[in-house]
Amino acid sequence: MRIEQFQANEIEGLVNEDNGLVSRLLFTDETLYQLEQQRVFTRTWLYLAHETEIPNNGDFVTRWMGEDPVIVVRGTDGVVRAFLNSCPHRGTLICRADVGSAGGFVCPYHGWSFSNTGALTALAYEPDYYEGHLRADELGLFEVAQLDIYNELIFATWNADAPSLDDYLGNSKWYLDIYFGRTPAGMEVLGRPHRWMMQGNWKLGAINFAADGPHATHVHGPITERLAGIPPQVIGDLLAHSPAFCLDNGHNGIFTLLPEDGPQWLGCLPELVALYEQVLDPHQQYYLSKMISGVQTQFPNMSWVQAPISLGDNQPPVMFLALRVWNPRGPELTEIYDWFLVEKEAPQEYKDAVLKAGLRTFSLGGTFDQDDAEAWAGISRGIHGEIGRSRPMNFQATLAFRDKEVKDFPGPGRVYQSTYAEMTEFDVLREWKRRMIAGA
Ligand code: FES
Ligand code: FE
Repeated sequence: MRIEQFQANEIEGLVNEDNGLVSRLLFTDETLYQLEQQRVFTRTWLYLAHETEIPNNGDFVTRWMGEDPVIVVRGTDGVVRAFLNSCPHRGTLICRADVGSAGGFVCPYHGWSFSNTGALTALAYEPDYYEGHLRADELGLFEVAQLDIYNELIFATWNADAPSLDDYLGNSKWYLDIYFGRTPAGMEVLGRPHRWMMQGNWKLGAINFAADGPHATHVHGPITERLAGIPPQVIGDLLAHSPAFCLDNGHNGIFTLLPEDGPQWLGCLPELVALYEQVLDPHQQYYLSKMISGVQTQFPNMSWVQAPISLGDNQPPVMFLALRVWNPRGPELTEIYDWFLVEKEAPQEYKDAVLKAGLRTFSLGGTFDQDDAEAWAGISRGIHGEIGRSRPMNFQATLAFRDKEVKDFPGPGRVYQSTYAEMTEFDVLREWKRRMIAGA
């Protein structure tokens, strides 16, 4: 299928808001995949790294913006920048390391060299060799158009005309603060990201974390009972009556909340709770205190999940926070980058327990991710064929819920009183459609 075959009116019909049906081509089609690389991944803000991954001048990590490799580096001047990891000479990958610290980068092909602030500092030959035909001052590393940082989360975009990061995050910041800005010192990453390939389109992860309430008891029910000690029926009832929120610019999430007369601060250290009370507003504190899971997707491909998990019988639960990026690698292939975060102020044994809880649940070998990966890969197998891809995906709970917005929820956004409403998952796809049409 050629790119020209998807005009704006054809894309409009792929996510049908009147009947709640979505074309499965969003998850299989090569042409749509190439189009979204242009219209979504080169134009929106994308999450790159946490500042605690590159705390010192010269520290760098290599990441992805869509299918473009980038180097995220804190220069000798202390400023964080992001550059295309492709040599301005002939294009080879300059930095082959995942993480490190360097005063600069030397291209492995012909040896052009760059400072960690992006300037071209040495050529294979003296500049005179080019007799004035090469402008060394214009051949530094290609830098992203905008980079900004919120709660130590580093975002960037190739789009000089994109709204500011502050505008892009919009009202989702109220929710972001609950996870990433809840103590005076903030959060830190626990080690390097875990990475693995998922046999499915990146949007499958993004919508699942936006989030898909009903799958939680079905696919994760037995392990939830084992790790959290809560029977699936009880979890299901909580999920069906917990808030789902549609936020600015396609950001969406859910809280799963304990009953009002139930326990509070499950998995939270008392000394950290005292810090939350210093930083968060009373409503943010309340939802954090009642949370047995919080899941959210920042459009397009950044997501996180938080939940209290017990590491063994009779052991009190600890609250892990897993942050991830769904890196597109093809219409039916995704490379997941997955980090765990914890409050900087937490004692070391709590940090160790959080990492262990995260690894056991939301990582390559984690029980929850293995459940989800099988379902997502199953979608790819189920919709790959000629007939399978011609059938729609169903989001018709949205038809029942779209007029049932909760008006008295204290947080921002359009809020629905059930994580079964499918409104939030569908909203990610609506935003995808909006951007695919706007970029035509
Ligand atoms: Fe980098 Fe030639 S490709 S120096
Ligand atoms: Fe899941």
